Amino acid sequence: MNLSSNQAEAALAIFRQAYPAFDDTRSLDDLRAAEFSRLDEQSQVYLDYTGGGLYADSQLREHMDLLRNGVFGNPHSDNPTSEATTLLIDSTREAILRYFNASPNEYDIVFTPNATGAIKLVGESYPFNPGSRYLLTFDNHNSINGVREFARGRGAEVTYVPVVPPELRIDAARIDAEFDQIDPDANNLLAYPAQSNFSGVQHSLELIEQAQSKGWDVLLDAAAFAPTNKLDLSRWHPDFVPLSFYKMFGHPTGVGCLLARKTALAKLVRPWFAGGTITVSTVQAERFQLADEETAFEDGTVNYLNIPAVEIGLRHIEGIGVATIHERVASLTGWLIDCLVSLRHGSGEPLVRIYGPTDTEARGGAVTVNFYDANGKLIDHRGIEKLAGEHNISLRTGCFCNPGAGEVAHGLTEDDVAKAFASSERMTYDQFLNALEQQDGKSAGAVRISLGMVTNFSDIHRFLQFARTLLS
Ligand SMILES: Cc1ncc(COP(=O)(O)O)c(C=O)c1O
Repeated sequence: MNLSSNQAEAALAIFRQAYPAFDDTRSLDDLRAAEFSRLDEQSQVYLDYTGGGLYADSQLREHMDLLRNGVFGNPHSDNPTSEATTLLIDSTREAILRYFNASPNEYDIVFTPNATGAIKLVGESYPFNPGSRYLLTFDNHNSINGVREFARGRGAEVTYVPVVPPELRIDAARIDAEFDQIDPDANNLLAYPAQSNFSGVQHSLELIEQAQSKGWDVLLDAAAFAPTNKLDLSRWHPDFVPLSFYKMFGHPTGVGCLLARKTALAKLVRPWFAGGTITVSTVQAERFQLADEETAFEDGTVNYLNIPAVEIGLRHIEGIGVATIHERVASLTGWLIDCLVSLRHGSGEPLVRIYGPTDTEARGGAVTVNFYDANGKLIDHRGIEKLAGEHNISLRTGCFCNPGAGEVAHGLTEDDVAKAFASSERMTYDQFLNALEQQDGKSAGAVRISLGMVTNFSDIHRFLQFARTLLS
């Protein structure tokens, strides 16, 4: 770690005292130096891990060696090079099941381009019908929100359960009451994120069993949770789990999966067939037969040259230990929050407002804030991103594809957003923000600082130094 000033050394000493478990994660500093040296060579402060993880050099070397030394054909053929590909794909499926402690008797893996592809498979195939319900939390990624269009289109009722400020956790009594409102003869789906990509809140995994015991199927979005937490599918049994692997270990992009319980997958009704999903189809008689299990859901040719890199990535995080990654991220997140809440202008006004928990209890490493000036006036998040960029700091700003959590966090009412929407026929995000701002200076955007596998103390220190430049 390259901490030049005495001030930084002193801060590190206080941090280590406040978060002693951080010292058990020092192996990640060595890993960063050996495998992620590009970050420090380019003086990059990367704080957008919820957007995408970073890959180690060794992952690239191993993947490129594999491709360089093998001959891999399309897995749909039946020849030696095709079989070589199939072996790798099968081995990756087994590695994913092992990583998540998922029994091969209980779960199947459907490869998709990303978590969104996995969610769309469920949305378009779930047998919603009149009498069905689609229950989801305000705090959800837009890809989960979008399933409501499939649900409504097939006559299902769509219900949002609020999250409650300031911590932005699910209203437990409210969701429990919703679980009871069910027609047991209809198909009913609950969707929520294991970790919010807005606030970092980790919603209770107990909801899975609670909902299932009352007859619901559960779509647990683990895209933001999996990179720094162990999801143990021998302990928890959600019906559908979408994932994007680049979020877990950076490389490859273009591969995600749907982990699906076999019983749940059997319930899905595909709206079409495609190459790769059938055993046979005819043109003249217009008949087709879908293949078994996951094959029926993998449209066309899977991303077969990148899929083996998933097994390499899983080995990479297993080698470090997800518990170590979790501890590092928790310690640094705690420190980041402690320091941010203490920053005040000369006027006494706080520099930031944090949306979500201000401790490390049941939360991950995404911290979402807005900045305020000495008079308590909101500073536009778009300006913050630009200024941070000038310091080589990569952050995420906007609503992070999670409008519901943002609406609650910013205190926006249905009326506020409806009015903003009414002001133009087709609008850009900027036009939407401007329309909101005209209503009492309201905002829908924020700044997200998200930590991951190789975040170090210096990254957080440099971010805090940048934040201090906004004090007056
Ligand atoms: C919680 C959550 N769900 C789903 C997604 C969608 O992932 P992708 O864009 O890789 O499909 C994201 C991406 O940020 C996410 O954070």
